[in-house]
Amino acid sequence: MEKWWKKSVVYQVYPKSFMDSDGDGTGDLKGIISKLSYLEDLGIDVIWLSPVFASPMDDNGYDISDYLSINPLFGSLEDMTHLITEAEKHNIRIILDLVLNHTSDEHPWFIEGRKSKDSPTHDYYVWAKEPNPLISVFSGSAWEFSPETNEYYLHLFSKKMPDLNWKNERLRQDLYTMMNQWLDLGIAGFRFDVIEYIGKEPQAMVTANGTQLHPYIKEMNKATFGKRNTLTVGECWNVDFAAAKQYSDPDGSEFSMIFQFDHMKIDWDDQLGKWKPKPLDFVGLKKSLSHWQNEMMGCGWNSLFWNNHDMPRIISRWDDDLTHPVEAAKLFATISYFMQGTPFLYQGEELGMSNARYTFLDQYTDVETLNAYQDLVVTRKLMTEQEFMGSAMRFGRDNVRSPMQWNDKKNAGFTTGTPWLPLCANYQTVNAESQIHDKESVFSFYKQLIAIRKHSAYSDLIEQGTYTLLEPDHPQLFAYERRFKNKGLLVLANYGTVPLHHQIDQKIVKTILSTRPQKIESSVDLMPYEALVLEIEI
Ligand code: NOJ
Repeated sequence: MEKWWKKSVVYQVYPKSFMDSDGDGTGDLKGIISKLSYLEDLGIDVIWLSPVFASPMDDNGYDISDYLSINPLFGSLEDMTHLITEAEKHNIRIILDLVLNHTSDEHPWFIEGRKSKDSPTHDYYVWAKEPNPLISVFSGSAWEFSPETNEYYLHLFSKKMPDLNWKNERLRQDLYTMMNQWLDLGIAGFRFDVIEYIGKEPQAMVTANGTQLHPYIKEMNKATFGKRNTLTVGECWNVDFAAAKQYSDPDGSEFSMIFQFDHMKIDWDDQLGKWKPKPLDFVGLKKSLSHWQNEMMGCGWNSLFWNNHDMPRIISRWDDDLTHPVEAAKLFATISYFMQGTPFLYQGEELGMSNARYTFLDQYTDVETLNAYQDLVVTRKLMTEQEFMGSAMRFGRDNVRSPMQWNDKKNAGFTTGTPWLPLCANYQTVNAESQIHDKESVFSFYKQLIAIRKHSAYSDLIEQGTYTLLEPDHPQLFAYERRFKNKGLLVLANYGTVPLHHQIDQKIVKTILSTRPQKIESSVDLMPYEALVLEIEI
């Protein structure tokens, strides 16, 4: 089967914040349809649609109460099929975000299952007589008491998100049937939420990477998407190279690719994780990304990303003061887009949107942030309120979920009503309308990058070429080479606030992309955050 996704660029839509068509302050499917031309113009091939299924929205849709219906907040099933067919007209495919590790506690399976041990769906969930010390990703014990059967149920996320028991054969078959229904409707694949947990063995304190994980994935692949021409990507926070190769084995027995997060955990504290971030280890970041490039070459496939709905906006992450927002946005894009893998772009990244920086706790709606505050500040007193709020402004997930900035008018053109989350204050200067026709904008830069990846003399090289990190220990320069057949590429990026003089040893053929017009000979002065891509002779 043709691996079309190797040359594709995926764009993540977070539906609540993308485009509101009916003035209720929340984005919706009709809103997405109205922006398909914008996405086609950008050049993306696939939309990863964060969950739009029926849900009480405890975790903005990652708590599904019916896999086969659409949350009325976002529209109807008819809107969904309309989105699929309209997107096709714009050469865009849709992949759905499927949460198969847990459901909402308002899913009929759980509502019925919790009533009695004899209920046919009781065993669809994970129960224990006594809780063990497992901790939820969203803070506190991972077990919640359920009085009807006098047992505890497992929730690796919020209490309203009970974990599914994949050991139950009927549950697995029900999930596969549901997935096939979506595939029949014209869906081009799936992003699998925290898929690494489905093989959990909670009694043994095992959550990720249980022994049955890969057998389950292989079974699901065979029963559903494996025979179709899909893009599948698994979210895996705890993964080594060997497992990553298995997940993305070119034999097609599991997924097309996974998201791994080594480069995204680089500034996390050992104990308090993202709530107590460390300064960026730039050399470590280069080495991590480069390792993944080299390890997966020829035997797996990388996804390339800096952002998603859980991660801070990359330009805000290591530079809260945003000294060079436009240059930084272009620099991070350049570093990633010439690597091997499939790029994933999170809505607004193509405009250089920054974190919204919500300052007060009552501006946050995100269950993870609010639970972490309760746990770290109130209950365990491991952080002061001030310390926590400092981290929340950077890592609190609402900061990356602020509404899309379409123009400089009221509510940035996102809604005619009251937006569910306040706009980021910079929408009058950072917005789509002002960038689409500006050749120097971040949007135009992304357009250029995407076109180079997809339809240029360098497309095959970017897809297949070897990768070598140059000057690995340089604290400011990210430089790498790609080579394929008779062509070579040199990527140079100055991640620093001072200029950098760099001697170019390779013979230059021409400049492929630069963030600043200049004549390049045997050496170059890279300005702060400047990025440059050259074709070199090999
Ligand atoms: C990962 C998703 O990306 C995140 O947004 C969600 O909260 C958890 N999984 C739980 O579903």
